[in-house]
Amino acid sequence: MTVQDSATTALRVKELCVDVATPEGWATVVEDVSLAVDVGEIHGLVGESGSGKSLTAMAIMGLITHSQSARVTGGEVLLGDVDLLKLSNRDLRRHQGKDLAMVFQEPMTSLNPAFTVADQIGESIRYHLGASRKEARERSIELLEEVGIADARRRCNDYPHQFSGGMRQRVMLAVALACEPRLLIADEPTTALDVTVQAQMLELIRSLVERHGMAVIFITHDLGVIAEICDRTTVFYAGQVIESGLVGEVIKGPRHPYTEGLLRSVPADDDLPLWWIDGSPPLPGQVSSGCRFSPRCEYSKNECDTHAVPLRLSADGRAIRCALADDLSLNGRD
Ligand SMILES: Nc1ncnc2c1ncn2[C@@H]1O[C@H](COP(=O)(O)OP(=O)(O)OP(=O)(O)O)[C@@H](O)[C@H]1O
Ligand SMILES: [Mg+2]
Repeated sequence: MTVQDSATTALRVKELCVDVATPEGWATVVEDVSLAVDVGEIHGLVGESGSGKSLTAMAIMGLITHSQSARVTGGEVLLGDVDLLKLSNRDLRRHQGKDLAMVFQEPMTSLNPAFTVADQIGESIRYHLGASRKEARERSIELLEEVGIADARRRCNDYPHQFSGGMRQRVMLAVALACEPRLLIADEPTTALDVTVQAQMLELIRSLVERHGMAVIFITHDLGVIAEICDRTTVFYAGQVIESGLVGEVIKGPRHPYTEGLLRSVPADDDLPLWWIDGSPPLPGQVSSGCRFSPRCEYSKNECDTHAVPLRLSADGRAIRCALADDLSLNGRD
C-alpha cells in the first residue's frame, strides 16, 4: 500500500515485515505495515496485545537488527530521505537518541539505577552534541523543568528510585527530549500510571509536541487514550494494519468490524453493559489465508475466509482491510 506523503512528512514506514522465532520456526508477526507521520503529529498505534505494535516500534528504532529471536525481513523506514534499515550499526547509533528517541512503559527498566538523573539525561547531550559536563548538566536541569519536575536543580542529583512512577516517566521524557529528536516513540507510556497522573502525562506530551514540533508515535491498547491525544491512528490486528485515518473520523465512523469492536469495548459514561470481542487473535505462525479477523467477526461471510484481503486506500485518505467495508454500516462513538 502507498502512504500519504508530503513535505511535512517526518517518517514514512513502507511495507515493513518482522519475523519472530517460534518453536516451529520463523513466523511473520508484522506484515506489510505502512504508515506516515507528519511533523507535529501524534500518530497512535492501537490494537490488542500481541498485534505487533511494539515490534513495529523497535524495528523503526533499529533495535531488532541483531536479535536471535526477531528479524526485519523487508520494508523501508525513511526518516527524511534516509532509510534507517539500510544503515550500518555505527551510522544508526548516530541517529538513536538524537533524531530518534523512545519512552517505554516501565521507566525503571530503561533508567539506570546506579546513575543520577542528570548523568542519564546529560549522557546523550555529551555523546551526540559534544557538550561539556557542565553544559550537559545545565541543559538537564532545563529539561527537568520543562517536563514539570519541581526544584529541578536539586532533584537532578537524585537517583531514579527517589522519584515516583509518574515522575520517573517525566524523567524518561526528559532523557528522550535531550537532543530534540525528530521522532519520539512512546510505547504505552501511561499504562502503569493512575488516571490523574496519566492525564497529566498526556497533556505534557501534547504540549511538548506543540513546542518542539516533533513527530510522535504513541502506542496504546486504549482507544480512549488515542481519542484524547492523537491526530491520526493506525489500528493493528494480528500483525497487519486493518484501518487507519484521522482519529476523529475513525472513532465516529469506523469502517472495519474490529475497530467497531474496540470502540464498543471502551467503557461508556452511561449505563451500557461492558462489551468485549469474543475469542482471541491467532498465534504467530497460525494465521489463515483469508481475513485474520474473520473467525471473531459478526459480519463474516464465506468469501472472507477464502481470499486474502488487501489494505485499500480510499479517496478520503482512510485505509481499510475489509472485503465487506463498502456494504457495512458500522457504529462509532461520539
Ligand atoms: N523477541 C521476541 N521473540 C519472539 N516472539 C516475540 C518477540 N517479541 C515479540 N514477539 C511476539 O510477536 C508478537 C507481537 O509482539 P508485540 O510485542 O509487537 O505486540 P504488542 O502489540 O506490542 O503487544 P502488547 O500490547 O502486549 O505490548 C507477539 O505474538 C509476541 O509474542
Ligand atoms: Mg507492546
